[in-house]
Amino acid sequence: MTGHHGDVLSLVYTSSASQPFRETALEQLLEECRENNAETGVTGMLLYRSGRFIQVLEGVAETVRALTDRIRRDPRHHDMRVLLEERVPQRRFPDWTMGYRALRGSGEVAPEGYRDSFSDLDADSDEDTARRALAELTLWFRVRSAASVGA
Ligand SMILES: Cc1cc2nc3c(=O)[nH]c(=O)nc-3n(C[C@H](O)[C@H](O)[C@H](O)COP(=O)(O)O)c2cc1C
Repeated sequence: MTGHHGDVLSLVYTSSASQPFRETALEQLLEECRENNAETGVTGMLLYRSGRFIQVLEGVAETVRALTDRIRRDPRHHDMRVLLEERVPQRRFPDWTMGYRALRGSGEVAPEGYRDSFSDLDADSDEDTARRALAELTLWFRVRSAASVGA
């Protein structure tokens, strides 16, 4: 699934949910994602906050591009904007057919820098800013995943 070095395409986009996603709708979506992605060898993460998605998709370039086209046509969201598309030496989310994190209003403590990173990726940012924001969110995601193992 890892492929040779340079084989992995990493694509990051943002989009707006067409309707506020309820927990069950998100779970359904994730189940669908994970099933498909396990078959096609796609990994990544999905973040959701206040009606906005940020998704990282990684895998074989053609597969990722085809999936992105399919996701773009999904009526559950709109205004998809690709922020980054780059070859990476290795996957950032090798263990995730689609990792997921939501940042809800109360009870969920945003880590230092998370809000800014999310906004930076959300806004009309240049590539360096987007890259930095993505790196921070990736780290946050990993740390949080490690902390919640077994939960
Ligand atoms: C925000 C968002 C993210 C999605 N991510 C994935 C994904 O990672 N993998 C996937 O197979 N489908 C994903 N989908 C669902 C696809 O748009 C599509 O419904 C699904 O691939 C099934 O396609 P099909 O009905 O043509 O088989 C996503 C949809 C949305 C709205």
